[in-house]
Parts: sequence; structure tokens; C-alpha cells
Amino acid sequence: MSFSTINNVIETWETIRRMPEWEKEVGVGLFAKFFKMEPEAKTIFGFREDLDVTDYKVLISPRFVAHAMQFVTMIDRALNMLGPSDEMLSEVLIDIGAKHARYGVKPEYFPTMGKALVSVLSSNLGDVFTMEVQESWIEVYNALSHDMIKGHSEVYTVKMNDANRQIEPQHQVDSRVWA
Ligand code: HEM
Repeated sequence: MSFSTINNVIETWETIRRMPEWEKEVGVGLFAKFFKMEPEAKTIFGFREDLDVTDYKVLISPRFVAHAMQFVTMIDRALNMLGPSDEMLSEVLIDIGAKHARYGVKPEYFPTMGKALVSVLSSNLGDVFTMEVQESWIEVYNALSHDMIKGHSEVYTVKMNDANRQIEPQHQVDSRVWA
């Protein structure tokens, strides 16, 4: 990963961090977008699949809001660990990925999360979110989700009781389909 890629991501993330209640704002916005793209994933948080994501029941759910903020905090932690602590970061992400397979998260949710992340960053950053910045975020998200998918697939494959199932390659995000 190049210096300019990391720099683009860190700089734009700093802008996000200056927003009031940024963890809640970005996390809730991101999961609202994510649930629109993957409605059945709402059931993991105990919501009905057809519940409107803008319904107050979703937006005031302490569990939903707490997780939305956990996601953002995780991204923040991960960005702080990029570079010198790469190995330690990988271990953390592999562990979280494995836990998510147990929570019922499907492998295809990871690229959707990436799309939701790009979309929420774009909404909040406006013109600052150039194509170059977008590409940098996709590269960083792909690297982070690669480790989560690795941990996830170890548990999910066993769970699905299908030794031949290959999850990893097709669930990497292809930036060409994001534009
Ligand atoms: C890249 C994507 C994601 C990241 C970085 C992330 C991050 C986290 C973190 C840090 C935790 C708490 C600690 C832990 O369990 O180790 C957590 C818990 C959890 N996550 Fe995620 N998450 C992601 C995606 C998802 C998705 C897509 C779902 C389901 C739709 C989900 C469902 C849960 C659940 C059910 C918990 C357990 C806590 C609870 O039941 O409220 N996560 N996540």
C-alpha cells in the first residue's frame, strides 16, 4: 500500500473525526445504507426484514446504535495501526471476522459494507471525496476486510459443512463496479 493511499485515507478520516458526534453520525448512516442493500441482515439485530431502516425503532435501538459506533471505532483503530502494527492488526481483524461468522454475518456482506462505507464518506465529504480518494479508501477497506473474511471463512466454512466452499476470492471488492 503506497504512502499516498494511506495519506488520502488518514487525511479524509481526520475531516470526518472533526464532525460533531462523528462515530454515531457515520456509523448509523453507514448501517442505514447497508441495510437498504442487504435487508435480510436486519434480522441479525432482531429487526424484521421489511422494517424501514429510517424507522425510529431502528434508529433508537441501543444495540443497533452501539454496533454502528463499534464499526466506526474499529475503522479508527485499524487506521491507527496501519503500517508498523500491520501484523497485530491482522490478528485483531481475523478474530473479529471469525466472531462475525458466529453472529450470522454472510461473506457477501463484507463488500456491501465497503460500498456503504464509500457512500457514507462521499455524502459527508462532498467534493473532497475525489475519485483518487475513493480508490484509496477501496484499497484500504479491501485490505482490512481481507483479514476479516479470512477469519470469517474459517468458521463459516465449517458452519456450512461444505469443505469445498471457496469464499475469499469472489468477495473481494472490485472497484470497477463501484463507480
Ligand atoms: C466490516 C464490517 C464490520 C465490522 C468492522 C464490525 C465490527 C464489530 C465489532 C468491533 C464488534 C464488537 C466486538 C466483537 O464482537 O468482537 C461487533 C459485534 C457485532 N457485530 Fe459487527 N462489524 C461489522 C459488520 C457487521 C455486520 C454486517 C453485522 C450484521 C448485519 C454485524 C453484526 C454484529 C453483531 C451481531 C455483533 C455482536 C454484538 C451485538 O450483538 O450487538 N457486524 N462488530
